[in-house]
Amino acid sequence: MGSKITGIGMFVPERVLTNQDLEKILDTSDEWITTRTGIKERHIADEWVKASDLALNASKEALDMAGIHPKDIDLVLVATSTPDMIFPSTACFLSDKLGCKNPMAFDFSAACSGFIYGLTIADSFIKSGKANNVLLVGSEVFSKIIDWSDRSTAVLFGDGAGAVVLSKSNDDSDILSTVMKSDGSHWQLLHCQVGEKLRMQGRETFKLAIKSMEQVCNKALAKAGITKEDIKLIIPHQANVRIIDALAEKLEVDRDKVYVNIQKYGNTSAASIPIAMYEAYKEGKINRGDYILLTAFGAGLTWGAIVLKF
Ligand code: UT7
Repeated sequence: MGSKITGIGMFVPERVLTNQDLEKILDTSDEWITTRTGIKERHIADEWVKASDLALNASKEALDMAGIHPKDIDLVLVATSTPDMIFPSTACFLSDKLGCKNPMAFDFSAACSGFIYGLTIADSFIKSGKANNVLLVGSEVFSKIIDWSDRSTAVLFGDGAGAVVLSKSNDDSDILSTVMKSDGSHWQLLHCQVGEKLRMQGRETFKLAIKSMEQVCNKALAKAGITKEDIKLIIPHQANVRIIDALAEKLEVDRDKVYVNIQKYGNTSAASIPIAMYEAYKEGKINRGDYILLTAFGAGLTWGAIVLKF
């Protein structure tokens, strides 16, 4: 028994905040943000919009593509660090908005690695026979936890959601290997205390991100029994284009083999990989059946990689 990705969707709020807009409120410049991060703009949700609202739109598209009715979803998983409330879970709000029928529903927090953790959870539920159709969404409204007076973090993040439907299949699994790691001893590097704003020590986080993602990418490839030459596209978490460039160099892969869309969205945390996967698919950079390598690194610290057949 295997799990198949049967649908994918994404959604970002309409409002765009450009680097030029940020120049007006912070001591920063388009030149600094572009050269240090690769980001040109990001999407920001209106004040009243919640993670479950973004998740709803992304999920509808993924369910449409999968041809699956919400009532046939038996597990709703939301990866988020910016939930609607502390409780109930954003997954419960989402399943109600979608019209699901009493599914298992829960949120989990693995920060920017949320989608990697989530695909592994979804795959495990299917392979163990505990779920047939899983809706997995990474949805974030980081604009709500940003300190808009801190130029070292305010320029980096954006809001958005990406969703996939994973379904039980009698064919081989699409998820070939998964590797997930954590190290809580470095929690101070990137954190947000309850009721407070996000804080990050960028330079340290940067260095660990490259090293950690390189290690898990190589582990995931070895576990899947394939080489980087077999991979059509690497889709890394979008935190900084310089991290992505350094990762490509360490892995000794052609830069064209690594997907980047950070210029449009900034860092959308748990939503960044499904959004990138969606756009790579729509742009024809990946087709059904291609091998792809996903990798992420984030607060926790958490990090991981997955080899999958799209
Ligand atoms: O998604 C989870 C994982 N997150 C990450 O992986 C993020 C990792 N970190 C990074 O991407 C980078 O470290 C940053 C983009 C956050 C910062 O880039 P950096 O090259 O590491 O810059 P820095 O923090 O070393 O700062 C260099 C200078 C400092 O000025 P001084 O001390 O050299 O005078 C900062 O004050 O740049 C200054 N600076 C800015 N200047 C203009 C910091 N932020 C800004 C800004 N505009 N927005």
